[in-house]
Amino acid sequence: MTERLRLGVNIDHVATLRNARGGALPDPVRAARVAQAAGADGITAHLREDRRHIRDADIAAIMEAITIPLNFEMAATDEMQGIALAHGPHAACIVPERREERTTEGGLEVAGDQDRLARFIGPLSDAGLRVSLFIAADPAQIAAAARIGAPVVELHTGAYCDHHAEGDTQARDAELARLIDGAKRAADLGLEVHMGHGLTYDSVAPIAALPEVAELNIGHFLMGEALFVGLAGAIAEMRRAMDAARG
Ligand code: PXP
Repeated sequence: MTERLRLGVNIDHVATLRNARGGALPDPVRAARVAQAAGADGITAHLREDRRHIRDADIAAIMEAITIPLNFEMAATDEMQGIALAHGPHAACIVPERREERTTEGGLEVAGDQDRLARFIGPLSDAGLRVSLFIAADPAQIAAAARIGAPVVELHTGAYCDHHAEGDTQARDAELARLIDGAKRAADLGLEVHMGHGLTYDSVAPIAALPEVAELNIGHFLMGEALFVGLAGAIAEMRRAMDAARG
């Protein structure tokens, strides 16, 4: 069992709401501060190529506002590498990105793009950023992540959460089994294991209970829940659900 399971709060959708009106509110920097005060262990933000949620200026503002680590999600492009190196966040999570997708729909193709990705993450690691690769819980992808020297993998829980929400218990359990196997494989290879995407109070328990998992990154559900109970309350309830599952 790793030490305390960390909760990274993804604040992208505060920025999505801001951008819907084009002004400055609601302020994702304020959300980062509130999340920190509510017990988040880190803040996660994804600067997309199309800037649909956080924007360039948000990165420095968030980093200045918080004392917990920033996990900077980014596509494997030269532009994003330059931005990550300029800001030096604690962590860089490399995600696949397709402009037409609504959210990050699949995992990064590491096995088929090993040489390029190895070259890509080198300068980030050299600069002291903790690199993670957002991948499916697929043995080939996990092995490739270890081969290219990434210290961390984040396993995509989206399919598990979708099946959970649909009530398809057979498909949900099959996905959960893949995640359990993936977490073990990754840990055996010496990788730190994170998980995230689509997690809710209802779906988080079996994931939080996995002893290999060190960090969960959760955004969309928490921001939706914040509309009803406030961001601090939503984070506190997620923390409680995670701790209950872990205990
Ligand atoms: N982890 C990664 C790598 C992601 O790309 C995202 C979504 O941007 C999340 C976690 C959080 O997913 P959600 O917003 O569905 O909780």
